[in-house]
Amino acid sequence: MTTNLIERYSTIEPHGGFLVNREVKGKERDELLAKAQNLASLTLTAWSLSDLELIAIGGFSPLTGFMGKEDYNHVMNEIRLANGLVWSIPITLPVSREEADSFEIGQDIALKGEDGVIYGLLHLEEKYTYDKVLEAKKVYGTTDEAHPGVKKIYEKGEVYLAGPITLLNRPDHGQFNDYYKDPAETRKMFADLGWKTVVGFQTRNPVHRAHEYIQKCALEIVDGLLLNPLVGETKSDDIPADIRMESYQVILKNYYPQDRARLVIYPAAMRYAGPREAIFHALVRKNYGCTHFIVGRDHAGVGDYYGTYEAQEIFDQFKPEEIGIQILKFEHSFFCKKCGSMGTQKTCPHSKEDHLHLSGTKVREMLRNGEVPPAEFTRPEVAEVLIRGMREHN
Ligand code: ADX
Repeated sequence: MTTNLIERYSTIEPHGGFLVNREVKGKERDELLAKAQNLASLTLTAWSLSDLELIAIGGFSPLTGFMGKEDYNHVMNEIRLANGLVWSIPITLPVSREEADSFEIGQDIALKGEDGVIYGLLHLEEKYTYDKVLEAKKVYGTTDEAHPGVKKIYEKGEVYLAGPITLLNRPDHGQFNDYYKDPAETRKMFADLGWKTVVGFQTRNPVHRAHEYIQKCALEIVDGLLLNPLVGETKSDDIPADIRMESYQVILKNYYPQDRARLVIYPAAMRYAGPREAIFHALVRKNYGCTHFIVGRDHAGVGDYYGTYEAQEIFDQFKPEEIGIQILKFEHSFFCKKCGSMGTQKTCPHSKEDHLHLSGTKVREMLRNGEVPPAEFTRPEVAEVLIRGMREHN
């Protein structure tokens, strides 16, 4: 496995200093794939498969595999890996007790997808049990089963397998393939575009006017925008990724300068871990070569589990150089009827009655009923895509 030196293209160092590359190609891949046919195998969930891919392509640098107990405990208790590097979300491989018992430490395991394809290998170094309630509390700040991330913990296997991974096949992203780039490729793309500073934007929603406003505020001070929507697993009532992807293309085409914004998918699962996930999202976008990252109101939040600005405040626990990507924090933005423009409390003197606030839930409800959300909230071209998409999905 050769270490990829493409990180030189970007002005920003990957987390931990180098971009991890756990993918094998050519003859080495052919040999390992042939060997893998005869190995014991494990079928991964879509979530674990996306973790495998992101570890291998360097999105989760400096991780080189699924976390062992020491790193896991440090992440839970200190928001750091055992070596002291900031890391906020455990990246683990859960299996049932029966599955865990069937593997021996030191063994290589073929990692299959639900489609039967062998995607990679795990060199098993450790298996350990964990406390689900404690993990829920530490990572999600709640043990409530109604929280989608907590629910996942309670549903998954009792044992974590750990060790370095190797990627033999990249998962196919189907209709999103045109918008797929790995971190080495986004770094090269930024260099080719001549962007020295790039703001990364995470979303699991269609881009509405508040998103557009904070992205464009950021674009006033950086060279380019990486619109990097999460297209991995989300909760069932979020708007499906295929509809969102069409809406992103439409808004970029109609409302953004063509040479200053790029759309690339982020193929990870959504955790809904609020503050901890904001750190995680920022570190991953640093690996993709972004120099700046937007954290607005209730980033990666769900329900009322997190305070409006908790995902911003958590960064205060760390020195800026420990995070290594500049966090652009934005207040709750809205459309003000009196100003006739978007703003926040920092820029608008008018009262709440003049402000248009629409929740994601309310908009989804409108879309399902075929109602067009107001232009002050959603661009009409985006609304058109969403209404059509939601109708076809239902
Ligand atoms: S999520 O992935 O973080 O859950 P979401 O689409 O809700 O996605 O938000 C994307 C980004 O925009 C986050 O940084 C979030 O904090 C920010 N954001 C969303 N709505 C607003 C708003 N009205 N004002 C300011 N920031 C917002």
